[in-house]
Amino acid sequence: MKTIIEPFRIKTVEPIRMTTVEERRELISKANYNLFSLESQDVLIDLLTDSGTGAMSTNQWAALMKGDESYAGSPSYYRFENAIKDLMPFKHVIPTHQGRAAEHILTFVVSDGHGEGKIIPNNTHFDTTRANFEDAGFDARDLVIPEGLDTALEHPFKGNMDLERLEELLAAEADNIPMVEITITNNAGGGQPVSMANIRGTKAICTKYDKPLIIDSARFAENAYFIKLREEGYQHKSVKEIVREMFSHADGMTMSAKKDTFSNMGGWLALNNDEWAEKARTRLIMTEGFPTYGGLSGRDMECIATGLEEIISEDYLQYRIRSIQYINEGLDALGIPVMKPAGGHAIFIDAKKMLSHIPPLQYPGQSLAVALYIQGGIRTAEIGTFMFGRQPDGSEKPAQMELVRLAMPRRVYTQAQADYIIEVFAELRNDIANVAGLEITWEPASLRHFTARLKPLQE
Ligand SMILES: Cc1ncc(COP(=O)(O)O)c(C=O)c1O
Repeated sequence: MKTIIEPFRIKTVEPIRMTTVEERRELISKANYNLFSLESQDVLIDLLTDSGTGAMSTNQWAALMKGDESYAGSPSYYRFENAIKDLMPFKHVIPTHQGRAAEHILTFVVSDGHGEGKIIPNNTHFDTTRANFEDAGFDARDLVIPEGLDTALEHPFKGNMDLERLEELLAAEADNIPMVEITITNNAGGGQPVSMANIRGTKAICTKYDKPLIIDSARFAENAYFIKLREEGYQHKSVKEIVREMFSHADGMTMSAKKDTFSNMGGWLALNNDEWAEKARTRLIMTEGFPTYGGLSGRDMECIATGLEEIISEDYLQYRIRSIQYINEGLDALGIPVMKPAGGHAIFIDAKKMLSHIPPLQYPGQSLAVALYIQGGIRTAEIGTFMFGRQPDGSEKPAQMELVRLAMPRRVYTQAQADYIIEVFAELRNDIANVAGLEITWEPASLRHFTARLKPLQE
């Protein structure tokens, strides 16, 4: 059979409110051309993020009812801990309300809030990871392989760490590096996977310099499935075996359970080092909660435990990876400049190429995102100059890339909806020269993309 079908049936549905192009023109104008300011009921296909937006299974909903909300020693915690240890055999599991809380605690553990003059290497820091380290004074250093920065280049593991540069950095700065991190898949680099050989190679360098390796693990199952598909020697291993091997090379992990556990909220920090774990738990009590619930209710922990059993299903992962590739291939066939190969959770459009008539400081990515909303009610996210252009000294400069991300929520949209997305691009492509650039009319002091107001340069 060539057709890969959705390996689930739909039991509960959420109606989508249909809107017209004219209505959407009005709605986006009222939202000041910022997609974060839209009400979600005015969106047909919401691809703003894959975080916390997945569909839970009947077993997850059933598990919610078993949630035990005891302050201390809840059986839901032990189910959560056991489900994690079954895949990621770390000694200590510390629940947090989401991934960034785990990052915050880890940052404190390695710095006591003072990382000045110190460096944290990573393939690419995700923005909250970067923000946590930088807030403590660290230099958050990205060391992805050069192939990872070329959107058009085909490479099986574009998320790999540049091992040569990592070794050079450790040789020169070992005293100033408390830990090394690697992000699987590499979200900020397009959801591209990291190979097992690269994780092993990173660990070998860490061992040589006596540094712990921490995995930023939000999309660990998608990464494991890419290893099974693309790395020699792994075709006959189960995803579970691959996951266990990936984590056997690490000394700890941070996790956003909003992605690869199909949960709407949650996260954890896991560690092998007893001293670090004790320090983390003390901090956890101050900022999140008691160590057997952290920032989570018992029902959340139940739901995450069940999600961990479901995410390693190879039928699911085959469908997941194929559904992203399907849209990528459909857009590529239309001549839309997409990032290649497709990553694990999103489709990335190179807006610099697609809207070459719009200069970076008129935000081609945001202009494309607005046009996609007007044309088809699709909400996407700009990752370019609108997001990154404002500098700490107040000046503005073009970002390295002008991308638009179509992040696919898990188990939410059907193949007909995927075909609709491709069709919207096909229609928009004919009219692309008429899409105007934007100017900002108001922006906050930082993180402007969430709340800034814009207007088109020509109406
Ligand atoms: C790679 C990665 N790390 C960390 C996080 C932060 O997790 P959370 O959103 O749960 O705080 C995310 C979220 O998108 C992520 O993609």
